Amino acid sequence: MKKILVVGASGQIGTDLTVELRRRFGEENVIASDIKEPSKQVLESGVFEILDVLNKSQIESVVDTHQITEIYHLAAILSGNAEKAPKRSWDINMEGLFNVLDVAKEKKLSKIFWPSSIAVFGPTTPSQFTPQDTIMDPNTVYGISKLAGERWCEYYYQKFGVDVRSLRYPGLISYTAEAGGGTTDYAVDIFYKAIQDRKYTCFLKAETALPMMFMEDAINATIGLMEAPAEKVKIRSSYNLGGISFDPQTLANAIRVHMADFTIDYEPDFRQAIADSWPKSIDDVRAREDWGWEAKYDLEAMTKIMLDEVAKKFK
Ligand code: NAD
Ligand code: SER
Repeated sequence: MKKILVVGASGQIGTDLTVELRRRFGEENVIASDIKEPSKQVLESGVFEILDVLNKSQIESVVDTHQITEIYHLAAILSGNAEKAPKRSWDINMEGLFNVLDVAKEKKLSKIFWPSSIAVFGPTTPSQFTPQDTIMDPNTVYGISKLAGERWCEYYYQKFGVDVRSLRYPGLISYTAEAGGGTTDYAVDIFYKAIQDRKYTCFLKAETALPMMFMEDAINATIGLMEAPAEKVKIRSSYNLGGISFDPQTLANAIRVHMADFTIDYEPDFRQAIADSWPKSIDDVRAREDWGWEAKYDLEAMTKIMLDEVAKKFK
């Protein structure tokens, strides 16, 4: 019997992932947890526990109480926010992962999901169509923690048999919850400003291309990887995952197709240097070959849904 715990369920991904896991596996079989209150939808559709991932005994207690078999561990500090609080971010990103991996090992949980990121790559990584195996020299607090996390995931799989699975998410675009303080957040914020003000000031330069993905694709990839037979999951560090690649001026043009008077200007801040160190596009051939990954949404489809759904919030 599958019983899932989502750690970090109140965040951008956790909000949508919890709802979809409950839809697929039953509301009573998915326990949401976070240090902050979740959305109304998450709160009302099943059990929610306040859980600090830095508190291992609290994780153990929730796992025992609900007879958890799988954990989706999403709690982390994202790239932009991590630069403002390096040590605290390192502690949350790394100690949190160790706690989850150790609980999985000690309680023999069946599977763990932990997301990595395009942030594991760095300034000397080939930036176009970045391959699965290549130079990895991240120069951000967040990227260093994700690369270390990947190595530890593979270690726990090889040494202790923990069935941990991971994806290097690109920047994720969604309308249900706010983005959590990353460098790719502009591609979410832009839709809110377009609907409210018809204009947006972008914190990245016009031609800063980054790998991105619509949330529904990311959720399908996540559950697809977790439901794949173990022998098909051949990479135990983290899989490259590709979706859409675009820059702010291209996204603005896609919005203008639906909103001719939309304008954008550019005031790059500290996140420009982070974006400049990341890939522009991703080669995810291994995910497609190993467990059948396929993205569904392109820029046009994602833009139309985002404009429609964000507009509904302001009616
Ligand atoms: P988010 O910031 O929106 O959500 C993270 C959640 O973790 C928040 O609700 C926060 O309250 C919670 N949290 C923080 N500290 C905690 C603690 N000590 N104990 C328990 N919960 C805690 O982030 P997200 O965008 O939902 O990202 C989820 C995961 O996916 C992270 O590991 C992130 O690095 C990864 N990721 C996200 C993206 C993206 O574009 N959103 C891209 C690549 C990777
Ligand atoms: N979207 C994330 C960030 O910008 C990438 O991991 O931090």
